[in-house]
This record gives sequence, structure tokens and C-alpha cells, in this order.
Amino acid sequence: MATNRTFTMIKPDAVANGHIGAILNDIIADGFKIVAMKYIQLTKETAGNFYAVHKERPFYSDLVSFMTSGPIVAAILEKDNAVEDFRRLIGATNPAEAAEGTIRNKYAKSIDANAVHGSDSDENAEIEGNFFFSKFERF
Ligand code: TYD
Repeated sequence: MATNRTFTMIKPDAVANGHIGAILNDIIADGFKIVAMKYIQLTKETAGNFYAVHKERPFYSDLVSFMTSGPIVAAILEKDNAVEDFRRLIGATNPAEAAEGTIRNKYAKSIDANAVHGSDSDENAEIEGNFFFSKFERF
């Protein structure tokens, strides 16, 4: 059964380009409730651990460098069918392939700097949310 939470980050490119407000508006307008949120800059260690699943991929070290290049917004979002609905809202990994009106279509410029993260499964949503937020920081 699908849980009702997912985890997101507004990535350094979208923060640097001034899109935090617009992206949060799109998320809220789509029916998501923010149940945890923080504005932080990741260390190489934190970003490396978060993306450890991609360790063997050719883009891993560029990904870690990019994700530590500036502040991000991390959040846990709640909505029925959250993981799948949020993946639909953000669009394909490569913004050139992201559907019209999706967050990556509107705010991302490239596959490596693609504006937002969204968990790809209920299991990962739980792991990723717990990675960033203690139980005192989630509502
Ligand atoms: P992935 O989990 O495949 O995509 P998504 O974020 O849509 O779940 O990849 C994680 C991140 O790695 C992706 O958001 C951007 C980066 N990435 C690259 O820089 N180059 C690539 O070729 C791929 C596939 C991903």
C-alpha cells in the first residue's frame, strides 16, 4: 500500500536562480502539505551518503559537487499517493524530456542541475526523510 509521504530537495540551481517560492507554490497548489522543512548546505560527506546508491555511476562525483555548491531546501511532503504524484509533478530526470508544466520543465536547465529531487519509492521516501529530519522536526 502506498504511504502518504515523500521527500524532496529544491537543489542548488533552483535556489540560486530564485525559484524557491515558485516551486513551493507549485507543490502546495498540487495539494501537498509541508510536514518538515529546512534550508541547509550539504557537506560532501552528507551528499555522498545521500547519493551512495549512485556511487559507481560516471556522474557521481559531479553530482556530489553540484549538490554541495550552494544551499538547498529539504522537505517532507504529505498527500495521498505522495511518491507517485510528486514524481509526476516534477517530471522526467532530464528536463528536456519533462512534460510541459512540470517543475523540471519550468525551472531546470540540464539533467545534472535539474531543480528538484523526489523520492522514487515509499521505502526511499521514509529513508530519505529520516536522513534529514529527527522525529522532533516532522509534524
Ligand atoms: P536518478 O535517481 O536517476 O534521477 P531522479 O532524480 O529523477 O530520481 O538520478 C539522481 C540524480 O543524479 C539526478 O536527479 C541528476 C543526477 N544525474 C546526472 O547528473 N546525470 C545522469 O545521467 C543521471 C541519470 C542523473
